[in-house]
Amino acid sequence: MKVAIVQNPEEGSRLAASIFIDQVKQNPKTVLGLATGSTPVKMYKLLAEACKAGTVSFKDCQSFNLDEYLGLAPEHDQSYHYFMKTQLFDHIDIDQAKTHVPDGLATDIAASCQAYEDAIKAAGGIDIQLLGIGSDGHIAFNEPGCSLACRTHSQVLTQQTINDNARLFFQGRVDEVPTQAVTMGIGSIMDAKKVVLLAFGKGKQDAIAGLVEGPVTAMCPCSALQYHNDCIVICDEEAAGKLRNKDYYKYIFSQTGVSNA
Ligand code: GLP
Repeated sequence: MKVAIVQNPEEGSRLAASIFIDQVKQNPKTVLGLATGSTPVKMYKLLAEACKAGTVSFKDCQSFNLDEYLGLAPEHDQSYHYFMKTQLFDHIDIDQAKTHVPDGLATDIAASCQAYEDAIKAAGGIDIQLLGIGSDGHIAFNEPGCSLACRTHSQVLTQQTINDNARLFFQGRVDEVPTQAVTMGIGSIMDAKKVVLLAFGKGKQDAIAGLVEGPVTAMCPCSALQYHNDCIVICDEEAAGKLRNKDYYKYIFSQTGVSNA
């Protein structure tokens, strides 16, 4: 695992955007794995700017998102369908028919999850997966205690996640947040060829310490990424605040840059 400690979210977003742009330039048919949350917003803005400037084109890409709230229609302003459309898809040249977000309204959830896994496989697998991280160590919506081998499934959210995400819902109300989601599993995420995880702010300190230096445990699902052979964690100084080997990671990064994750 490579750890890039940046001065601020702006620098981290620029670094992440450059990794995605290089990837798509190298392989215009890249299968993108995409994430939601406030963390990637700036990075998506940079991708949109690069696309408008003609630096990169996503017209031959496909995309798969990590997760969606159960019970929210794509038009709901807090659905991840809506987020992706308004934050990224409407601003780049991707063919929106080739963008995929799990179905939060599926009646047969198991069949819908299987179909999602099958679609990823049929696309040839995810080439590059973007991740945020929850303050409880979740990635996508894989909450503490989940199987580290799980595939796309429905997940009951922890109270911590519901509280964290309530700020984005109507009047910041906790009772507006769905209690379950459908999410790619840790096993699905581990299959991505490359992983780029972004974390900004003090609220992510414990999760980042668990991810990079903690034991691999279902109690901190992101820690499974220690077994991924091409994963870069981009965090700001605040999110890196509890890393014991911080100076060493900085030294490595100064020597090798983003390669050799
Ligand atoms: C949600 C999403 C995660 C995301 C997390 C962090 O729970 N399911 O994919 O990483 O929020 O969100 P934020 O970036 O807003 O801190």
